[in-house]
Amino acid sequence: MIENKNILLCVTGGIAVYKAVALVSKLSQAGATVKVVMTDSAKEFVQPLSFQVMSKNDVYFDTFDEKDSRVIAHIDLADWADLVVVAPATANVIGKLANGIADDMVTTILLATEADVWIAPAMNVHMYSHPAVVRNIERLYLDGYRFIEPSEGFLACGYVGKGRLEEPERITELVCQYFNEMNDQPLKGKKVVITAGPTRERIDPVRYISNFSSGKMGYAMAAAAQKLGAETVLISGPVELPIPTGVQIIRVESAAEMYDAMLSQYDDANIVVKSAAVADYRPKSVHAQKMKKKEGDDVLELERTTDILKSLGKRKEQQLLIGFAAETMDVIAYGEKKLESKNLDYIIVNDVTDPSGGFGSDTNVVTLLSREGEAIPFSAMPKEQLATCLFETILQQESSKLHDR
Ligand code: CTP
Repeated sequence: MIENKNILLCVTGGIAVYKAVALVSKLSQAGATVKVVMTDSAKEFVQPLSFQVMSKNDVYFDTFDEKDSRVIAHIDLADWADLVVVAPATANVIGKLANGIADDMVTTILLATEADVWIAPAMNVHMYSHPAVVRNIERLYLDGYRFIEPSEGFLACGYVGKGRLEEPERITELVCQYFNEMNDQPLKGKKVVITAGPTRERIDPVRYISNFSSGKMGYAMAAAAQKLGAETVLISGPVELPIPTGVQIIRVESAAEMYDAMLSQYDDANIVVKSAAVADYRPKSVHAQKMKKKEGDDVLELERTTDILKSLGKRKEQQLLIGFAAETMDVIAYGEKKLESKNLDYIIVNDVTDPSGGFGSDTNVVTLLSREGEAIPFSAMPKEQLATCLFETILQQESSKLHDR
């Protein structure tokens, strides 16, 4: 169930350390790779060898004992983990973490990891309800840590009450649930920024230049990203569509406003999808008053807008950049050219003359072109369904690239 998942178990000193040995066994049986880090006090209860045998991995406890000279162990372990579980967690380690103290292998890893950290406290009932411990736990909740509450029962100290480490079977169940939910939400923890709709370039207070983009494809992409777990920001040109639930909306009118909004969201974005049909030209000057007709023809002087996507391509770092191209002829060839010239990772091209796709339609038929030269066609389907298929295909492509590395 949790095959290929790396779980780092941080064991701190309390009588419940013996249960942590069973936890390693349960997690390993469920398919996870487990590595164990212990504090000095934990070693007083159970020998590291027990954990080594159960996990079939080295056990770590000394920050300065670098087993592999190519890496720094506490950072390497922190990066390796898909999930960190602190079990049993003493009042001491909770207090240290709540205050950012890192004075041993466990606490340095806890500060260094970007993985989710779960804390399973185990201690005397009075210690657990001590205002300092309650305060530290509250602090850590606010910092985004998740707690596996201790259960009630007979405590080793003789008291009966809350403080027993949750059973290894139950912790394993929760870990499996967590990874199953993550599988359904592969974009969890990622920020996806999507642009949608047309832009409007004003001529005067009552007129503008725009295009027929309905925004439906972009809105469907935003709904799909949200459903797949992403923090989703939708930068939308003027359209009349309901905002997908949970999506943050930034409304813009012109290409210039869309550019500014995009720049404000770009630096920490993981995936950027530019489905907006951005105007390439705008009137050189916007008339303050309504233009009056004159005898004969008139000429409207236009100037280029910024190519938003091209500019994003130039400053691309961690972002996966995905463009759209609506074409009326030589669809693939034009798509490939734009992919290259805008430094994109993917481009989704469609022939807007196709009756089963294009502007305003509820369905779309597209081809996904990748930087590696692949062309993956998608048959006509509703835009909502297509959006999910596109994200899933792109994520599959990206994960196979990671495995190749
Ligand atoms: N795009 C953009 N800024 C622009 C124009 C386009 O960010 N000023 C983006 C679109 O959002 C889309 C991609 O570039 O993701 C391709 O847009 P498209 O209009 O098909 O291509 P252009 O580069 O404008 O080329 P052309 O109009 O010559 O086909």
